[in-house]
Amino acid sequence: MTDVTKQAAAKASLKYVREGMILGLGSGSTMYYVLEEFGSLVKSGFHIKGVPTSQRTAGWAEEFGIPLVELKRHTAVDLAIDGANQVSNDFHLLKGGGGSLVREKIVDASANELVILVDESKCVSHLHGALLPVEVLPFGWEKTAVIIEKLGYEPALRYKDNSPFISDNGNYILDCGFNIIDNPQKTHLQLKEITGVVDTGLFIGMADRIIIGKEEGTVEEK
Ligand code: 5RP
Repeated sequence: MTDVTKQAAAKASLKYVREGMILGLGSGSTMYYVLEEFGSLVKSGFHIKGVPTSQRTAGWAEEFGIPLVELKRHTAVDLAIDGANQVSNDFHLLKGGGGSLVREKIVDASANELVILVDESKCVSHLHGALLPVEVLPFGWEKTAVIIEKLGYEPALRYKDNSPFISDNGNYILDCGFNIIDNPQKTHLQLKEITGVVDTGLFIGMADRIIIGKEEGTVEEK
């Protein structure tokens, strides 16, 4: 995605935001522009609060003056806005490029409505040609990777600055190569069943609306 498509999608997401809402704040670079817009809303007197899905998002929210709340039993998340790495025709999502998939899934799933911001390159008929991020416990991760491999995927430990990438939850991410995911639900359940797997980057039928940012600065909505 380019800055133009991210900004276009971020601006378009504002029309779903209402006074007093508690907002799920997704992760990834597109969210920077969303938080910038939310920050302007707060400055203009709007009362919104956010539940961040990563430490990075929490930092940006603080920078833009967006009040944050914790996700507790009675926290009613009205709307979550998030990015994605791929979106299939039937609104299944592939997420986790930034390594925040577990917190994103918890917050996105608890929201009344989930709006996903992408560009055209991320819209596909079936999920394919990307890596599927899977968060795993560091303990025995190589054994977990062997089981994933036996299922036909090609797991590779994610690195950052020459060290294993550590998620906000203190876990590792295995980026799994695959050909095509015909049945995302089956794939998700198959992987989730493995002891050591915390969760997968497959978000099954969770999105209510997709905003597609275009290079001309316009958007298309699905
Ligand atoms: C992070 C995510 C992001 O939403 C996804 O990677 C898209 O990021 P970007 O907005 O930078 O393209 O799932 O875990």
